[in-house]
Amino acid sequence: MTVLVTGGAGFIGSNFVHQWLSATDEQLVNLDALTYAGNLANLAAIEGDPRHVFVRGDIGDRALIDRLFAEHQPRAVIHFAAESHVDRSIHGPGAFIQTNVVGTFSLLESARGHWRSLTPEARDLFRFLQVSTDEVYGSLTPDAAPFAETHPFEPNSPYSASKAAADHLVRAWFHTYGLPVLTTHCSNNYGPYHFPEKLIPLVIANALAGKPLPIYGDGRQVRDWLYVEDHCHAIARVLEAGRVGESYHIGGWNEMTNLDVVNTLCVILDELRPKAGSYKDQITFVKDRPGHDRRYAMDARKIERELGWRPKETFATGIRKTVQWYLDNQPWVEGVTSGAYRQWMNQHYGA
Ligand code: NAD
Ligand code: TYD
Repeated sequence: MTVLVTGGAGFIGSNFVHQWLSATDEQLVNLDALTYAGNLANLAAIEGDPRHVFVRGDIGDRALIDRLFAEHQPRAVIHFAAESHVDRSIHGPGAFIQTNVVGTFSLLESARGHWRSLTPEARDLFRFLQVSTDEVYGSLTPDAAPFAETHPFEPNSPYSASKAAADHLVRAWFHTYGLPVLTTHCSNNYGPYHFPEKLIPLVIANALAGKPLPIYGDGRQVRDWLYVEDHCHAIARVLEAGRVGESYHIGGWNEMTNLDVVNTLCVILDELRPKAGSYKDQITFVKDRPGHDRRYAMDARKIERELGWRPKETFATGIRKTVQWYLDNQPWVEGVTSGAYRQWMNQHYGA
């Protein structure tokens, strides 16, 4: 048996690949374009594993994807590949439309072609799992109930709009063509291999480098944070037992303001890597993100009720492991932060 993973050299995808290979006997084909966010260094620990077949390519390359389906006959597609950074989507939305919308459309068409060629038994077992985000629902007021699976899509950034569009395509391919799809919506992840343009790894990297810790606006925006390994377990569980055509929310039951997240990181760093003064002294308030969503929160009761999944890590345990991982893996940070990354930091945060 084989599964096809897209975006498996990125943050969540690479964590999923590691977890999948250690938990199953299956072959895994990992298709990734290796954009700035995709790094083979994330997969170094499984180099030489014959069950891991890495293919560099674009999800929108129909000929390549059709060939991969024909050659490997995957029983499932787990679709992580995306442009994923909100701030980049504000500076340049085109790549988000191309990969997240047009690319997902192309991948769905390849999957549908493959699925139609299968025997009726294999067709019943085939799955296309779309990995999506809580951001498609837009922003919550402070007292509103967390997002349930029935909440309307109200995306506010080019990133979330492109993910919402892709989710709609996935839904339509189920209703119109019968392609057996599943969709997961997850809250903010953190953990190993997180590219240091996102809040948590950026703050750790800047703290250690003695640079400012940039907080957008008043820092009181709320996100729900989930340790990446918990997310990967949840995806495997939905793939195994989720009801076709359904969507499942995955969350950490852990809402925090950005200021609380950054303060927590500083306290842990003060303990694990002490210096004169506190890392909190480096906190700097900067201009807010345009259209910045105020609050996300996930109601993840459906996946618990139907599939028995709940996060294992608390924020306290997960964030400590994460900080320790970055301290132990400084060469990884240096390796993935190429010239293109430094150019982005200058463009976005200024000199
Ligand atoms: P990431 O940016 O770290 O990784 C994305 C990967 O996709 C990279 O390896 C990149 O090279 C690859 N990729 C990009 N364009 C491609 C293309 N056209 N063809 C093939 N590969 C391509 O992203 P991530 O944080 O790991 O997120 C993975 C998925 O999970 C995304 O779909 C994202 O929307 C979703 N998600 C992320 C979070 C989060 O907190 N990071 C939360 C919920 C959902
Ligand atoms: P991010 O990690 O970019 O994830 P997302 O926008 O998908 O939630 O940002 C998390 C939160 O942190 C978000 O409210 C924006 C904020 N943020 C900062 O305050 N400073 C930063 O430098 C970054 C990257 C994010």
